Amino acid sequence: MASRYQAPRGTFDVLPDQARARARVEATAAGILARAGYESIQTPSFEDTDLFERGVGRSTDIVRKEMFTFEDKGGRSLTLRPEGTAPICRAYLEHGMHKLAQPVKLSYVGPFFRHERPQAGRYRQFHQIGLECIGTASPLADAEAIMLLSDLLGELGVPGVELHLGSLGSLDSRKAYLDELKAHLHAHEGDLSADVRERIDVNPLRAFDSDHEGTRGVMASAPTIVDALEGEDGEHFAEVRAQLDAAGIAYVIDPTLVRGLDYYTRTIFSFVCDALGAQSEVGGGGRYDGLIEQLGGPATPAVGWAVGIERILLALDEEEAAAGRDGFIAVGDPGQRQRAMAIAVELRNAGLAVEVDLAGRGMKGQLKHADRIGARQVLILEADGSAQLRDMTTGEQRVADTGNLVDEMTGGEA
Ligand code: HAM
Repeated sequence: MASRYQAPRGTFDVLPDQARARARVEATAAGILARAGYESIQTPSFEDTDLFERGVGRSTDIVRKEMFTFEDKGGRSLTLRPEGTAPICRAYLEHGMHKLAQPVKLSYVGPFFRHERPQAGRYRQFHQIGLECIGTASPLADAEAIMLLSDLLGELGVPGVELHLGSLGSLDSRKAYLDELKAHLHAHEGDLSADVRERIDVNPLRAFDSDHEGTRGVMASAPTIVDALEGEDGEHFAEVRAQLDAAGIAYVIDPTLVRGLDYYTRTIFSFVCDALGAQSEVGGGGRYDGLIEQLGGPATPAVGWAVGIERILLALDEEEAAAGRDGFIAVGDPGQRQRAMAIAVELRNAGLAVEVDLAGRGMKGQLKHADRIGARQVLILEADGSAQLRDMTTGEQRVADTGNLVDEMTGGEA
């Protein structure tokens, strides 16, 4: 029966078949990040709008076009979080984490919201797994962060992944470079798309992202920041690369790499996957040495990334097989239902995955259902208090010792 309601545009329900694959992604990430000393943090689903305007940047598409912003009953402007880095920096400052031993290593998983045009791999509510390593400028932290994302995608088996690496320099050298880039764009204004032309002075880097033919021509001869890196910026980038080389992580230097958030400084990276089509980035991030100061805190260098869970699942394109059940408890006589439930509770407490019939099926129906849910054994309770144990793979059935059902069902291995 079709309902007249549907999930809102750009959102989706996670049904049990998909939930299993998701759980595997989250568990794999949790293991990798915990072993590297990252601790979990959770922040609210919405924040003051100003946090994102300041943190992500007023000139970005995210802030200009994609935020779900609303007023609460007290007249405050709130926004469903479009990303996690600004909220975590807010929490870092709010809870005085700058007084802890540095760096503070945090990881997160949860829903994020962007009002984008929905397509495969692009939703209005999506889910990220991410990490933030706050309080160190060391290039080792950049390299470790990249290695962890590489490990995660590798362990999950995401195929055809390529790492793109770039550097934006520090805030100062970036400014000098941006002036150079703006001059180049102004010199070729006539060939640019209207959108790029309008934003030359606000966000010239986005010109590298354009699909417009004229703009692409202009960008082919544009100065690149990677070539312009000097002094400590150059050394930092060289050190990140040396660490990745030593770890055997392949990458391509991408001088045109830009990311849709304003807070990045120095290292930026993006893991792309050809199986994904148009939305080819599976995850990415970079260093954001100016963000915490921008939010009113002390100058605090940091680096992090986020990966889209839906994009991972899309790239993997496989469903997790159902886990199956250790057992099912069937009743030959309806009077045995209470006893079946008591036995199920006892077996569950012993760690077994056991179900009982909740639908009032006859014996044939119960066996069919046990088969459907992948039960390995069925315990059949008889009216006289005895029980039979049926092996669902061989079809063999024998009398069960009702005084010792845990051992009976585990073959004594529990
Ligand atoms: P981002 O590149 O905006 O970075 O998003 C990270 C990932 O989230 C993307 O690579 C993509 O997989 C996924 N994603 C983004 N938008 C959507 C969407 N509309 N639908 C589905 N998936 C999406 C950040 O958010 C930064 N906070 C990452 C970071 C952490 N940088 C430093 N620390």
